[in-house]
Amino acid sequence: MTEGRDDRGVAQTGSNARKVFIKTYGCQMNVYDSQRMGDALGSDGYQPTETMEDADLILLNTCHIREKAAEKIYSELGRIRLLKAERANEGRELRVGVAGCVAQAEGHEIIARAPAVDLVIGPQTYHRLPQALAKVARGERVVDIDHAVEDKFDHLPASQAGQIRGRGVAAFLTVQEGCDKFCTFCVVPYTRGAEVSRPLAQILEEARRLVAAGVREITLLGQNVNAWESSDAQGRAIGLGGLVRQLAEIPNLLRLRYTTSHPRDMDDALIAAHRDLPALMPYLHLPVQSGSDRILKAMNRRHTAADYLRLLDRIRAARPDIALSGDFIVGFPGETDADFEDTLTLIREVGYASAFSFKYSPRPGTPGATMEGHVDEGVKDERLQHLQALLRDQQAAFARAQVGRRMPVLIEKHGRHPGQMIGRSPFLIPVVLPASAGAIGAVAEVRIESVRPNSLMAEGAEAMPEAMRLRA
Ligand code: SAH
Ligand code: SF4
Ligand code: F3S
Repeated sequence: MTEGRDDRGVAQTGSNARKVFIKTYGCQMNVYDSQRMGDALGSDGYQPTETMEDADLILLNTCHIREKAAEKIYSELGRIRLLKAERANEGRELRVGVAGCVAQAEGHEIIARAPAVDLVIGPQTYHRLPQALAKVARGERVVDIDHAVEDKFDHLPASQAGQIRGRGVAAFLTVQEGCDKFCTFCVVPYTRGAEVSRPLAQILEEARRLVAAGVREITLLGQNVNAWESSDAQGRAIGLGGLVRQLAEIPNLLRLRYTTSHPRDMDDALIAAHRDLPALMPYLHLPVQSGSDRILKAMNRRHTAADYLRLLDRIRAARPDIALSGDFIVGFPGETDADFEDTLTLIREVGYASAFSFKYSPRPGTPGATMEGHVDEGVKDERLQHLQALLRDQQAAFARAQVGRRMPVLIEKHGRHPGQMIGRSPFLIPVVLPASAGAIGAVAEVRIESVRPNSLMAEGAEAMPEAMRLRA
Protein backbone atom coordinates (compact mmCIF):
# COMPACT_ATOMS: atom_id res chain seq x y z
CA MET A 1 0.00 0.00 0.00
CA THR A 2 2.67 2.47 0.99
CA GLU A 3 4.62 1.84 -2.20
CA GLY A 4 1.96 3.37 -4.43
CA ARG A 5 1.43 6.27 -2.11
CA ASP A 6 5.06 7.42 -2.27
CA ASP A 7 4.88 7.55 -6.04
CA ARG A 8 1.98 9.94 -6.04
CA GLY A 9 3.42 12.33 -3.50
CA VAL A 10 1.75 14.10 -0.64
CA ALA A 11 -2.01 13.93 -0.38
CA GLN A 12 -3.63 17.17 -1.40
CA THR A 13 -6.42 18.82 0.52
CA GLY A 14 -8.86 21.66 -0.01
CA SER A 15 -10.24 22.70 -3.37
CA ASN A 16 -7.20 21.37 -5.21
CA ALA A 17 -7.76 17.85 -3.94
CA ARG A 18 -8.14 15.20 -6.61
CA LYS A 19 -11.65 13.92 -6.92
CA VAL A 20 -12.90 10.39 -7.51
CA PHE A 21 -16.27 9.45 -8.93
CA ILE A 22 -17.26 5.84 -8.32
CA LYS A 23 -20.26 4.40 -10.14
CA THR A 24 -21.59 1.13 -8.82
CA TYR A 25 -23.49 -1.54 -10.75
CA GLY A 26 -24.72 -4.97 -9.66
CA CYS A 27 -25.11 -6.41 -6.21
CA GLN A 28 -24.67 -5.14 -2.66
CA MET A 29 -21.16 -6.52 -2.54
CA ASN A 30 -20.20 -4.03 -5.22
CA VAL A 31 -21.76 -1.27 -3.11
CA TYR A 32 -19.65 -2.38 -0.17
CA ASP A 33 -16.49 -2.69 -2.29
CA SER A 34 -17.05 0.79 -3.73
CA GLN A 35 -17.28 2.22 -0.23
CA ARG A 36 -14.08 0.47 0.76
CA MET A 37 -12.28 1.66 -2.36
CA GLY A 38 -13.56 5.18 -1.61
CA ASP A 39 -12.21 4.94 1.95
CA ALA A 40 -8.83 3.71 0.70
CA LEU A 41 -8.62 6.43 -1.97
CA GLY A 42 -9.56 8.99 0.69
CA SER A 43 -6.37 8.11 2.52
CA ASP A 44 -4.55 8.69 -0.76
CA GLY A 45 -5.84 12.24 -1.03
CA TYR A 46 -8.92 11.67 -3.20
CA GLN A 47 -12.18 13.28 -2.23
CA PRO A 48 -15.42 11.69 -3.38
CA THR A 49 -17.57 13.54 -5.91
CA GLU A 50 -21.11 12.83 -7.04
CA THR A 51 -20.55 14.38 -10.48
CA MET A 52 -18.62 12.60 -13.15
CA GLU A 53 -17.70 15.92 -14.82
CA ASP A 54 -15.79 17.00 -11.66
CA ALA A 55 -13.71 13.87 -11.36
CA ASP A 56 -9.98 13.34 -11.86
CA LEU A 57 -10.53 9.61 -11.51
CA ILE A 58 -13.61 7.69 -12.64
CA LEU A 59 -14.07 4.15 -11.39
CA LEU A 60 -16.84 1.95 -12.75
CA ASN A 61 -17.54 -0.96 -10.41
CA THR A 62 -19.23 -3.36 -12.77
CA CYS A 63 -21.52 -6.41 -12.93
CA HIS A 64 -21.30 -9.33 -15.38
CA ILE A 65 -24.32 -11.33 -14.26
CA ARG A 66 -26.40 -10.87 -17.41
CA GLU A 67 -25.48 -9.68 -20.89
CA LYS A 68 -27.34 -6.37 -20.48
CA ALA A 69 -25.44 -5.56 -17.29
CA ALA A 70 -22.10 -6.01 -19.06
CA GLU A 71 -23.11 -4.11 -22.21
CA LYS A 72 -24.15 -1.07 -20.16
CA ILE A 73 -20.52 -0.60 -19.20
CA TYR A 74 -19.35 -0.19 -22.78
CA SER A 75 -21.92 2.49 -23.54
CA GLU A 76 -20.88 4.34 -20.38
CA LEU A 77 -17.23 4.04 -21.44
CA GLY A 78 -18.17 5.57 -24.79
CA ARG A 79 -19.52 8.68 -23.02
CA ILE A 80 -16.47 8.81 -20.76
CA ARG A 81 -14.22 8.75 -23.82
CA LEU A 82 -15.76 12.04 -24.99
CA LEU A 83 -15.31 13.56 -21.55
CA LYS A 84 -11.69 12.48 -21.54
CA ALA A 85 -11.12 14.08 -24.95
CA GLU A 86 -12.62 17.38 -23.70
CA ARG A 87 -10.30 17.23 -20.72
CA ALA A 88 -7.28 16.60 -22.88
CA ASN A 89 -8.13 19.78 -24.82
CA GLU A 90 -8.12 21.68 -21.53
CA GLY A 91 -4.78 20.10 -20.60
CA ARG A 92 -6.32 18.36 -17.59
CA GLU A 93 -5.97 14.70 -16.90
CA LEU A 94 -8.80 12.24 -16.37
CA ARG A 95 -8.06 8.66 -15.37
CA VAL A 96 -10.53 5.88 -15.91
CA GLY A 97 -10.68 2.53 -14.16
CA VAL A 98 -12.97 -0.47 -14.58
CA ALA A 99 -13.37 -2.63 -11.47
CA GLY A 100 -15.77 -5.43 -10.52
CA CYS A 101 -16.98 -8.52 -12.32
CA VAL A 102 -16.75 -7.27 -15.94
CA ALA A 103 -13.13 -6.35 -15.19
CA GLN A 104 -12.47 -9.86 -13.91
CA ALA A 105 -14.30 -11.60 -16.76
CA GLU A 106 -13.11 -9.51 -19.71
CA GLY A 107 -9.75 -8.11 -18.55
CA HIS A 108 -7.57 -7.20 -21.53
CA GLU A 109 -10.58 -7.18 -23.87
CA ILE A 110 -11.78 -4.00 -22.11
CA ILE A 111 -8.48 -2.24 -22.75
CA ALA A 112 -8.68 -3.30 -26.41
CA ARG A 113 -12.35 -2.29 -26.84
CA ALA A 114 -12.41 0.92 -24.78
CA PRO A 115 -9.52 3.29 -25.46
CA ALA A 116 -10.49 5.58 -22.55
CA VAL A 117 -9.66 2.93 -19.96
CA ASP A 118 -6.37 3.24 -18.05
CA LEU A 119 -6.93 0.55 -15.46
CA VAL A 120 -8.78 -2.77 -15.18
CA ILE A 121 -8.84 -4.30 -11.72
CA GLY A 122 -10.73 -7.38 -10.53
CA PRO A 123 -12.52 -7.85 -7.19
CA GLN A 124 -9.80 -10.16 -5.97
CA THR A 125 -7.02 -7.60 -6.31
CA TYR A 126 -8.52 -4.41 -4.84
CA HIS A 127 -5.82 -4.42 -2.20
CA ARG A 128 -3.40 -3.59 -5.04
CA LEU A 129 -5.40 -0.56 -6.22
CA PRO A 130 -2.87 2.04 -4.92
CA GLN A 131 0.02 0.32 -6.74
CA ALA A 132 -2.04 0.01 -9.89
CA LEU A 133 -2.93 3.73 -9.80
CA ALA A 134 0.73 4.58 -9.29
CA LYS A 135 1.57 2.69 -12.49
CA VAL A 136 -1.20 4.55 -14.32
CA ALA A 137 0.30 7.83 -13.08
CA ARG A 138 3.54 6.76 -14.78
CA GLY A 139 1.65 6.37 -18.05
CA GLU A 140 0.98 2.63 -18.09
CA ARG A 141 -2.33 0.96 -18.93
CA VAL A 142 -2.77 -1.63 -16.22
CA VAL A 143 -4.73 -4.90 -16.09
CA ASP A 144 -4.68 -6.60 -12.69
CA ILE A 145 -7.14 -9.47 -12.62
CA ASP A 146 -5.04 -12.20 -11.01
CA HIS A 147 -6.96 -14.57 -8.84
CA ALA A 148 -5.58 -13.49 -5.49
CA VAL A 149 -3.24 -16.13 -4.17
CA GLU A 150 -3.31 -14.34 -0.85
CA ASP A 151 -6.46 -13.68 1.15
CA LYS A 152 -7.84 -10.35 -0.01
CA PHE A 153 -9.41 -9.79 3.39
CA ASP A 154 -5.94 -9.67 4.95
CA HIS A 155 -4.66 -7.18 2.43
CA LEU A 156 -7.44 -4.65 1.92
CA PRO A 157 -7.33 -3.21 5.41
CA ALA A 158 -10.65 -2.73 7.15
CA SER A 159 -11.77 0.88 6.94
CA GLN A 160 -10.53 2.76 9.98
CA ALA A 161 -12.93 4.68 12.22
CA GLY A 162 -11.89 8.05 10.78
CA GLN A 163 -12.41 6.85 7.20
CA ILE A 164 -15.91 5.50 7.63
CA ARG A 165 -18.27 8.04 6.18
CA GLY A 166 -21.61 8.16 4.52
CA ARG A 167 -22.73 4.73 5.70
CA GLY A 168 -25.82 6.19 7.41
CA VAL A 169 -27.83 4.04 9.77
CA ALA A 170 -27.84 0.81 7.76
CA ALA A 171 -24.56 -0.56 6.39
CA PHE A 172 -23.19 -3.57 4.55
CA LEU A 173 -20.35 -5.73 5.81
CA THR A 174 -18.81 -8.43 3.63
CA VAL A 175 -18.10 -11.61 5.59
CA GLN A 176 -17.68 -14.08 2.75
CA GLU A 177 -16.75 -13.79 -0.88
CA GLY A 178 -16.75 -16.15 -3.82
CA CYS A 179 -18.72 -19.25 -4.68
CA ASP A 180 -17.97 -22.96 -5.07
CA LYS A 181 -21.50 -23.92 -6.13
CA PHE A 182 -21.15 -23.52 -9.90
CA CYS A 183 -24.80 -23.19 -10.84
CA THR A 184 -24.63 -23.77 -14.60
CA PHE A 185 -26.06 -20.34 -15.50
CA CYS A 186 -23.84 -18.23 -13.28
CA VAL A 187 -20.59 -16.28 -13.78
CA VAL A 188 -20.00 -15.53 -10.11
CA PRO A 189 -17.70 -18.51 -9.34
CA TYR A 190 -15.48 -17.28 -12.19
CA THR A 191 -15.57 -13.56 -11.37
CA ARG A 192 -15.47 -13.72 -7.57
CA GLY A 193 -13.36 -16.86 -7.30
CA ALA A 194 -13.49 -19.61 -4.69
CA GLU A 195 -15.38 -19.25 -1.41
CA VAL A 196 -13.35 -17.39 1.20
CA SER A 197 -14.62 -16.56 4.69
CA ARG A 198 -13.38 -13.51 6.49
CA PRO A 199 -12.04 -14.28 9.99
CA LEU A 200 -14.40 -13.72 12.96
CA ALA A 201 -12.20 -11.21 14.79
CA GLN A 202 -11.95 -8.97 11.70
CA ILE A 203 -15.73 -8.96 11.26
CA LEU A 204 -16.41 -8.13 14.92
CA GLU A 205 -13.87 -5.31 14.76
CA GLU A 206 -15.39 -3.77 11.64
CA ALA A 207 -18.92 -4.14 13.06
CA ARG A 208 -17.86 -2.25 16.21
CA ARG A 209 -16.32 0.50 14.10
CA LEU A 210 -19.48 0.83 12.03
CA VAL A 211 -21.60 1.07 15.19
CA ALA A 212 -19.24 3.71 16.60
CA ALA A 213 -19.82 5.69 13.37
CA GLY A 214 -23.60 5.62 13.96
CA VAL A 215 -24.65 2.43 12.13
CA ARG A 216 -27.57 0.60 13.80
CA GLU A 217 -28.31 -2.12 11.25
CA ILE A 218 -25.76 -4.33 9.52
CA THR A 219 -26.41 -6.59 6.55
CA LEU A 220 -23.78 -9.30 6.32
CA LEU A 221 -22.84 -9.94 2.71
CA GLY A 222 -21.55 -12.93 0.81
CA GLN A 223 -22.30 -14.64 -2.50
CA ASN A 224 -22.95 -17.65 -0.28
CA VAL A 225 -23.18 -15.87 3.02
CA ASN A 226 -24.52 -18.87 4.91
CA ALA A 227 -21.45 -20.92 3.90
CA TRP A 228 -19.39 -18.57 6.11
CA GLU A 229 -17.20 -20.41 8.59
CA SER A 230 -14.40 -19.45 10.93
CA SER A 231 -13.15 -20.35 14.39
CA ASP A 232 -13.99 -18.56 17.62
CA ALA A 233 -11.59 -17.28 20.32
CA GLN A 234 -11.38 -20.84 21.76
CA GLY A 235 -10.52 -22.29 18.36
CA ARG A 236 -13.94 -23.95 17.90
CA ALA A 237 -15.57 -24.02 14.46
CA ILE A 238 -18.31 -21.42 14.05
CA GLY A 239 -20.85 -20.82 11.29
CA LEU A 240 -23.10 -17.92 10.36
CA GLY A 241 -25.58 -18.74 13.17
CA GLY A 242 -22.75 -18.37 15.70
CA LEU A 243 -21.54 -15.19 14.04
CA VAL A 244 -24.92 -13.45 14.26
CA ARG A 245 -25.14 -14.53 17.92
CA GLN A 246 -21.85 -12.76 18.63
CA LEU A 247 -22.79 -9.67 16.64
CA ALA A 248 -26.13 -9.45 18.45
CA GLU A 249 -24.18 -8.79 21.68
CA ILE A 250 -22.62 -5.55 20.37
CA PRO A 251 -24.32 -2.66 22.20
CA ASN A 252 -26.32 -0.33 19.93
CA LEU A 253 -26.23 -2.77 17.01
CA LEU A 254 -29.98 -3.09 16.86
CA ARG A 255 -30.59 -5.10 13.69
CA LEU A 256 -28.89 -7.81 11.68
CA ARG A 257 -29.60 -9.22 8.25
CA TYR A 258 -27.63 -11.40 5.83
CA THR A 259 -27.69 -12.04 2.11
CA THR A 260 -27.48 -14.10 -0.13
CA SER A 261 -28.05 -17.60 1.15
CA HIS A 262 -28.03 -20.92 -0.65
CA PRO A 263 -30.67 -23.44 0.45
CA ARG A 264 -27.99 -26.13 0.86
CA ASP A 265 -26.13 -24.12 3.51
CA MET A 266 -29.09 -23.21 5.74
CA ASP A 267 -28.08 -25.17 8.85
CA ASP A 268 -29.81 -25.80 12.20
CA ALA A 269 -27.65 -23.26 14.06
CA LEU A 270 -28.71 -20.48 11.67
CA ILE A 271 -32.36 -21.48 11.88
CA ALA A 272 -32.07 -21.50 15.69
CA ALA A 273 -30.60 -17.99 15.56
CA HIS A 274 -33.82 -16.85 13.83
CA ARG A 275 -35.77 -18.37 16.71
CA ASP A 276 -33.62 -16.88 19.49
CA LEU A 277 -32.37 -13.47 18.39
CA PRO A 278 -34.78 -10.53 18.22
CA ALA A 279 -32.03 -8.50 16.47
CA LEU A 280 -31.98 -10.94 13.55
CA MET A 281 -34.67 -9.52 11.29
CA PRO A 282 -37.48 -11.82 10.13
CA TYR A 283 -36.65 -11.50 6.44
CA LEU A 284 -34.79 -14.07 4.38
CA HIS A 285 -33.63 -13.90 0.79
CA LEU A 286 -33.40 -17.54 -0.23
CA PRO A 287 -33.21 -17.96 -4.02
CA VAL A 288 -34.69 -21.13 -5.50
CA GLN A 289 -34.42 -20.19 -9.24
CA SER A 290 -36.95 -22.77 -10.47
CA GLY A 291 -39.71 -25.03 -9.18
CA SER A 292 -38.96 -27.86 -11.62
CA ASP A 293 -36.69 -30.64 -10.38
CA ARG A 294 -35.53 -31.34 -13.92
CA ILE A 295 -34.43 -27.73 -14.39
CA LEU A 296 -32.97 -27.50 -10.89
CA LYS A 297 -30.83 -30.51 -11.77
CA ALA A 298 -29.71 -28.97 -15.06
CA MET A 299 -28.91 -25.79 -13.15
CA ASN A 300 -26.77 -27.84 -10.72
CA ARG A 301 -28.65 -26.36 -7.78
CA ARG A 302 -28.24 -29.56 -5.76
CA HIS A 303 -31.71 -29.38 -4.21
CA THR A 304 -35.23 -30.27 -5.30
CA ALA A 305 -38.37 -28.17 -5.00
CA ALA A 306 -39.50 -30.44 -2.13
CA ASP A 307 -36.16 -29.95 -0.32
CA TYR A 308 -36.69 -26.19 -0.54
CA LEU A 309 -40.26 -26.38 0.77
CA ARG A 310 -39.22 -28.65 3.65
CA LEU A 311 -36.48 -26.21 4.53
CA LEU A 312 -38.99 -23.35 4.60
CA ASP A 313 -41.19 -25.38 6.96
CA ARG A 314 -38.27 -25.68 9.39
CA ILE A 315 -37.47 -21.97 9.13
CA ARG A 316 -41.11 -20.99 9.64
CA ALA A 317 -41.37 -23.30 12.63
CA ALA A 318 -38.50 -21.32 14.19
CA ARG A 319 -39.72 -17.87 13.12
CA PRO A 320 -43.38 -17.95 12.03
CA ASP A 321 -43.51 -14.32 10.89
CA ILE A 322 -40.46 -14.58 8.59
CA ALA A 323 -40.89 -12.84 5.24
CA LEU A 324 -39.41 -14.65 2.25
CA SER A 325 -37.74 -13.34 -0.83
CA GLY A 326 -36.30 -15.22 -3.78
CA ASP A 327 -34.64 -15.11 -7.19
CA PHE A 328 -36.13 -16.80 -10.27
CA ILE A 329 -34.83 -17.50 -13.74
CA VAL A 330 -37.25 -18.19 -16.59
CA GLY A 331 -36.25 -19.79 -19.87
CA PHE A 332 -33.24 -21.79 -18.75
CA PRO A 333 -32.24 -24.15 -21.62
CA GLY A 334 -34.72 -27.03 -21.86
CA GLU A 335 -37.43 -25.33 -19.79
CA THR A 336 -40.85 -26.50 -21.03
CA ASP A 337 -44.29 -25.05 -20.28
CA ALA A 338 -44.71 -27.80 -17.69
CA ASP A 339 -41.41 -26.87 -15.99
CA PHE A 340 -42.51 -23.25 -15.91
CA GLU A 341 -45.85 -24.31 -14.40
CA ASP A 342 -43.90 -26.07 -11.63
CA THR A 343 -42.21 -22.75 -10.83
CA LEU A 344 -45.57 -20.99 -10.59
CA THR A 345 -46.86 -23.77 -8.35
CA LEU A 346 -43.89 -23.42 -6.02
CA ILE A 347 -44.35 -19.65 -5.86
CA ARG A 348 -48.04 -20.08 -4.99
CA GLU A 349 -47.12 -22.53 -2.27
CA VAL A 350 -44.48 -20.27 -0.69
CA GLY A 351 -46.04 -16.80 -0.86
CA TYR A 352 -43.15 -14.37 -1.33
CA ALA A 353 -42.96 -10.94 0.30
CA SER A 354 -40.57 -9.82 -2.43
CA ALA A 355 -38.68 -11.37 -5.34
CA PHE A 356 -36.31 -10.78 -8.23
CA SER A 357 -36.87 -12.53 -11.52
CA PHE A 358 -34.90 -12.65 -14.73
CA LYS A 359 -34.89 -14.05 -18.22
CA TYR A 360 -32.07 -16.54 -18.63
CA SER A 361 -29.07 -14.83 -20.21
CA PRO A 362 -26.38 -17.16 -21.62
CA ARG A 363 -23.02 -16.20 -20.17
CA PRO A 364 -19.76 -17.03 -21.93
CA GLY A 365 -17.78 -19.75 -20.22
CA THR A 366 -20.69 -21.15 -18.19
CA PRO A 367 -22.02 -24.66 -18.92
CA GLY A 368 -25.57 -23.34 -19.54
CA ALA A 369 -24.42 -21.33 -22.55
CA THR A 370 -23.63 -24.46 -24.55
CA MET A 371 -26.58 -26.59 -23.43
CA GLU A 372 -29.23 -27.83 -25.84
CA GLY A 373 -32.71 -26.37 -26.02
CA HIS A 374 -32.27 -22.63 -25.70
CA VAL A 375 -35.67 -21.03 -25.22
CA ASP A 376 -37.04 -18.51 -27.67
CA GLU A 377 -36.79 -14.86 -26.45
CA GLY A 378 -40.52 -14.32 -27.00
CA VAL A 379 -41.36 -17.31 -24.83
CA LYS A 380 -38.98 -16.04 -22.14
CA ASP A 381 -40.70 -12.64 -22.27
CA GLU A 382 -44.13 -14.19 -21.87
CA ARG A 383 -43.06 -16.42 -19.00
CA LEU A 384 -41.35 -13.53 -17.23
CA GLN A 385 -44.45 -11.35 -17.47
CA HIS A 386 -46.64 -14.14 -16.18
CA LEU A 387 -44.29 -14.89 -13.27
CA GLN A 388 -43.83 -11.24 -12.38
CA ALA A 389 -47.59 -10.66 -12.31
CA LEU A 390 -47.93 -13.46 -9.75
CA LEU A 391 -45.00 -12.16 -7.68
CA ARG A 392 -46.40 -8.61 -7.80
CA ASP A 393 -49.74 -9.86 -6.49
CA GLN A 394 -48.00 -11.67 -3.65
CA GLN A 395 -45.90 -8.64 -2.82
CA ALA A 396 -48.98 -6.39 -2.76
CA ALA A 397 -50.86 -8.90 -0.59
CA PHE A 398 -47.94 -8.99 1.83
CA ALA A 399 -47.85 -5.18 2.06
CA ARG A 400 -51.63 -4.97 2.55
CA ALA A 401 -51.42 -7.51 5.36
CA GLN A 402 -49.23 -5.05 7.30
CA VAL A 403 -52.04 -2.49 7.55
CA GLY A 404 -53.31 -2.23 11.11
CA ARG A 405 -50.22 -3.93 12.55
CA ARG A 406 -47.79 -2.31 14.97
CA MET A 407 -44.12 -2.81 14.19
CA PRO A 408 -40.67 -1.48 15.08
CA VAL A 409 -39.26 0.81 12.40
CA LEU A 410 -35.60 1.85 12.25
CA ILE A 411 -35.55 5.54 11.29
CA GLU A 412 -33.01 6.10 8.50
CA LYS A 413 -33.44 9.59 7.08
CA HIS A 414 -35.61 12.66 6.59
CA GLY A 415 -38.45 12.30 4.13
CA ARG A 416 -39.05 14.50 1.10
CA HIS A 417 -41.57 16.60 3.00
CA PRO A 418 -41.14 18.51 6.22
CA GLY A 419 -42.38 16.55 9.18
CA GLN A 420 -41.73 13.18 7.50
CA MET A 421 -39.10 10.55 8.22
CA ILE A 422 -38.28 7.37 6.32
CA GLY A 423 -37.49 4.12 8.08
CA ARG A 424 -37.42 0.36 7.44
CA SER A 425 -39.84 -2.23 8.65
CA PRO A 426 -38.39 -5.53 9.88
CA PHE A 427 -39.41 -6.89 6.47
CA LEU A 428 -37.29 -4.34 4.57
CA ILE A 429 -40.23 -2.34 3.20
CA PRO A 430 -39.68 1.43 3.63
CA VAL A 431 -42.04 3.11 6.08
CA VAL A 432 -42.99 6.79 5.99
CA LEU A 433 -43.49 8.05 9.52
CA PRO A 434 -44.09 11.38 11.26
CA ALA A 435 -41.01 13.23 12.53
CA SER A 436 -42.49 13.02 16.02
CA ALA A 437 -41.83 9.24 15.94
CA GLY A 438 -38.15 9.76 16.78
CA ALA A 439 -34.68 10.71 15.57
CA ILE A 440 -32.50 9.12 12.87
CA GLY A 441 -31.02 5.91 14.28
CA ALA A 442 -33.89 5.30 16.71
CA VAL A 443 -36.39 2.45 16.51
CA ALA A 444 -39.98 3.66 16.71
CA GLU A 445 -43.00 1.45 17.36
CA VAL A 446 -45.59 2.56 14.84
CA ARG A 447 -48.96 1.39 13.56
CA ILE A 448 -49.20 0.96 9.81
CA GLU A 449 -52.16 2.81 8.43
CA SER A 450 -52.00 2.43 4.67
CA VAL A 451 -49.98 1.15 1.71
CA ARG A 452 -48.28 3.17 -1.02
CA PRO A 453 -46.79 1.56 -4.16
CA ASN A 454 -43.32 1.10 -2.66
CA SER A 455 -43.81 1.95 0.97
CA LEU A 456 -46.01 1.75 4.02
CA MET A 457 -47.49 4.81 5.74
CA ALA A 458 -47.39 4.88 9.52
CA GLU A 459 -50.05 6.49 11.65
CA GLY A 460 -49.60 10.27 11.68
CA ALA A 461 -47.44 10.30 8.53
CA GLU A 462 -50.36 11.29 6.35
CA ALA A 463 -51.28 14.38 8.36
CA MET A 464 -50.15 16.74 5.64
CA PRO A 465 -51.78 18.70 2.86
CA GLU A 466 -53.27 16.65 0.04
CA ALA A 467 -50.93 18.09 -2.60
CA MET A 468 -47.88 16.95 -0.65
CA ARG A 469 -49.32 13.54 -0.07
CA LEU A 470 -49.80 12.98 -3.76
CA ARG A 471 -46.12 13.50 -4.38
CA ALA A 472 -45.02 11.23 -1.51
N1 SAH B 1 -25.65 -16.10 -4.71
C1 SAH B 1 -25.52 -14.87 -5.41
C2 SAH B 1 -26.33 -14.79 -6.62
C3 SAH B 1 -25.84 -13.68 -7.48
S1 SAH B 1 -26.66 -13.56 -8.91
C4 SAH B 1 -25.67 -13.66 -4.57
O1 SAH B 1 -24.79 -13.36 -3.82
O2 SAH B 1 -26.65 -12.91 -4.65
C5 SAH B 1 -28.27 -13.01 -8.44
C6 SAH B 1 -29.31 -13.69 -9.24
O3 SAH B 1 -29.14 -13.41 -10.61
C7 SAH B 1 -29.29 -15.19 -9.16
O4 SAH B 1 -29.88 -15.68 -8.00
C8 SAH B 1 -30.04 -15.58 -10.40
O5 SAH B 1 -31.43 -15.61 -10.18
C9 SAH B 1 -29.74 -14.44 -11.36
N2 SAH B 1 -28.82 -14.87 -12.42
C10 SAH B 1 -27.56 -15.33 -12.30
N3 SAH B 1 -27.05 -15.67 -13.49
C11 SAH B 1 -28.02 -15.43 -14.41
C12 SAH B 1 -28.11 -15.59 -15.83
N4 SAH B 1 -27.11 -16.10 -16.53
N5 SAH B 1 -29.26 -15.22 -16.42
C13 SAH B 1 -30.30 -14.72 -15.72
N6 SAH B 1 -30.27 -14.57 -14.40
C14 SAH B 1 -29.15 -14.91 -13.73
FE1 SF4 C 1 -24.10 -18.08 -8.71
FE2 SF4 C 1 -25.19 -20.32 -7.82
FE3 SF4 C 1 -23.00 -19.34 -6.66
FE4 SF4 C 1 -25.32 -18.04 -6.34
S1 SF4 C 1 -24.85 -20.14 -5.62
S2 SF4 C 1 -23.33 -17.15 -6.84
S3 SF4 C 1 -26.30 -18.41 -8.30
S4 SF4 C 1 -23.12 -20.14 -8.73
FE1 F3S D 1 -22.81 -8.82 -10.57
FE2 F3S D 1 -20.50 -9.66 -9.70
FE3 F3S D 1 -22.40 -9.07 -7.97
S1 F3S D 1 -21.53 -10.37 -11.50
S2 F3S D 1 -24.22 -9.60 -9.09
S3 F3S D 1 -21.39 -7.66 -9.32
S4 F3S D 1 -20.92 -10.72 -7.80
